[in-house]
Amino acid sequence: MPFSLPLKVAALAVIMIPASLLLSHTPATPAGKASPTFYGDVLPILEQHCQVCHRAGEIGPMPFMTYQETKPWANSIWQRARCRNMPPWFADPRFGRFANDPSLNGNEIDTLARWAQAHAPAGDPNKAAPRRHWTGGWNISMPQAIVTMPQAVPIPLAGDVEYTYEIVPTGFREDKWVQMAEVRPTSRDHVHHAVIYIRPPDSNWLRPAPVNVPFTVSQLADDKLREQAHATDNDMLLVYAPGSSPDHWPEGMAKFIPAYSDLVFQMHYTTNQRAARDQTSVGMVFANTPPSERIFTLQLANDHDPIPIPPNTDNYRVEVHGILPNDAKLLSFFPHMHLRGKRFEYNIVHDDGSLETLLRVNYDFYWQLTYRLAEPRLLKAGTKLQAVAWYDNSRRNPHNPNADSPVYWGDQTYNEMMVGFFDVAVPAGIDKWHFFIRHHQH
Ligand code: HEC
Repeated sequence: MPFSLPLKVAALAVIMIPASLLLSHTPATPAGKASPTFYGDVLPILEQHCQVCHRAGEIGPMPFMTYQETKPWANSIWQRARCRNMPPWFADPRFGRFANDPSLNGNEIDTLARWAQAHAPAGDPNKAAPRRHWTGGWNISMPQAIVTMPQAVPIPLAGDVEYTYEIVPTGFREDKWVQMAEVRPTSRDHVHHAVIYIRPPDSNWLRPAPVNVPFTVSQLADDKLREQAHATDNDMLLVYAPGSSPDHWPEGMAKFIPAYSDLVFQMHYTTNQRAARDQTSVGMVFANTPPSERIFTLQLANDHDPIPIPPNTDNYRVEVHGILPNDAKLLSFFPHMHLRGKRFEYNIVHDDGSLETLLRVNYDFYWQLTYRLAEPRLLKAGTKLQAVAWYDNSRRNPHNPNADSPVYWGDQTYNEMMVGFFDVAVPAGIDKWHFFIRHHQH
């Protein structure tokens, strides 16, 4: 099955390897040190850093589960590891430490190098450590509930597809605390993003819209309803985009789904010359005991200022800030931009005006990742959070569909977006209405 989007990344990556790296000499095996083997040394690295994507049904184009599957790729694995192109990770290492940073350390890269140079020896399978166990089809442990869009959405060969919504009742008869959640599209290479909203029974959001069938905003009956589709105060269960990992919140913290809530799937499909149908599911694992903290996904978003991004500019800066209305523990970030996205930063603006950078991402449209802080960070009420985005609307940006065009905010990927999602934890009793922030600059 072709993965048309990520393959573009491959082409780019190969071009971008500096010649100096290609020529650099490789570490010699110290005298007396045996070559690494697949079972003894390489497999544990693959299990820890690669198999989450490189196994059947996941986004990696080839599985690295067995010796036979991996051996032909030994050189390629070494090259990708050496230029830190795999595993994918885009946080500037100068800022912050992240629990889900999959990067290889120097020793691991060295092991992969020496293994490839020794022509990929197998070693002794009987001496291998116990194999990592993967749950079939999921990267979280086996879900206790799976909510699937009842109707598949047809995706055409070409052209724009409007955001597609499907409202699906959970049927949960009691309140649920979600510890882990994962989005699984059936046609993953057509999904640019999915946002799964929680609509509690007392929410009026999109009430008149149909349930259990896909619809787009322009199919909605009236203007008021159409406006509602894009703006909601309801919490999100999670956001999915290519390469993003499932959410697994720390012990004692969980997302809350009130009894009888609906999940609202907001799907952004892109076309790629192959028609398809998609029927996305969300799998959930619940907390064993009610958590002491509740997680909200908040956002710093700028959808109006300043526009447009001028043509042929390579470093166009847009910022937005918000004041935290209550104490909260900052957990993770998920920056979202489109094809001109170049860099995204989250900062704290201190009282004296100095900036503390929490995360800087060298943005790649094809890899939208969650960055989970290694240590949750307590932020006091009144903390000023800033998000800054830079856009490259020049020819130098290989993803740019048209450098001569001014770019406006909008849903489609040739329009731009600036959304800095972030997760915070607050005491479990607080609901979003008492906490809610969505600060736009006015
Ligand atoms: C988050 C998912 C993900 C993780 C984790 C990941 N990969 Fe990949 N890998 C991909 C995707 C998608 C591609 C195809 C796009 C590309 O080439 O960039 C790919 C491509 C590759 C290729 C290129 C194959 C070719 O066609 O030449 C190699 C080699 C590779 N990965 C090795 C690794 C290794 C080694 C690790 C772990 C150290 C790893 N990957 C971790 C998703 C992943």
